[in-house]
Amino acid sequence: MNELNILALSGSLRAQSHNTALLHAARTLIPGGLAIDIDDDLGRLPLYNQDLDGGTPPVVVAEFRARIAAADALLIATPEHNASIPAALKNAIDWASTAPEGLLRGKPVAIAGASPGPFGSVRAQLVLRQVLAAVGAEVVVKPEVTVFHCDTRFTGDRKLSDPCTADLLRELLDALARKIHPYTAAK
Ligand SMILES: Cc1cc2nc3c(=O)[nH]c(=O)nc-3n(C[C@H](O)[C@H](O)[C@H](O)COP(=O)(O)O)c2cc1C
Repeated sequence: MNELNILALSGSLRAQSHNTALLHAARTLIPGGLAIDIDDDLGRLPLYNQDLDGGTPPVVVAEFRARIAAADALLIATPEHNASIPAALKNAIDWASTAPEGLLRGKPVAIAGASPGPFGSVRAQLVLRQVLAAVGAEVVVKPEVTVFHCDTRFTGDRKLSDPCTADLLRELLDALARKIHPYTAAK
């Protein structure tokens, strides 16, 4: 059987991002038969503008949409910005959501998030769940992966060092894998 492909989106644009590091950790914890491709540069997308969203969208947008279309599932790691998701992540979801082929409808999505504060991006993840529900994505409900005090859970070179977070992430990926199989069978 061919490997199934997960596109992992980081909501952080920071070079030293813990959320991007979480996605790299997921790569090492993923069940067999799945592969993770990481997009940690959502800032390259222009701000959503309906005037640009005609028959020929900007090339970067077309490429981003093609990556989403090719993915069997998404994994999103988001920081919390003012109790919500970062603008770059919302912008990327907006661009994906208006593709004529309805790219996010029925797409399996797992979410996680890291923040240095005590809540681990829980409010951002609630907002993200609401946005993903609006676009018809199939979001994994549990486990909720809220990596609070994230600066204590990675080594200096951004390797995940906390076994509890690794276990949760593994559980999340297993749950995502269970959602992917019915989705790809129906494609
Ligand atoms: C504009 C702004 C707003 C923020 N608001 C919150 C917040 O509401 N809750 C929170 O836990 N952290 C907040 N933070 C801290 C971020 O979670 C943190 O800086 C960082 O983005 C964590 O993710 P990263 O390491 O992946 O970049 C905020 C940071 C910025 C720059």
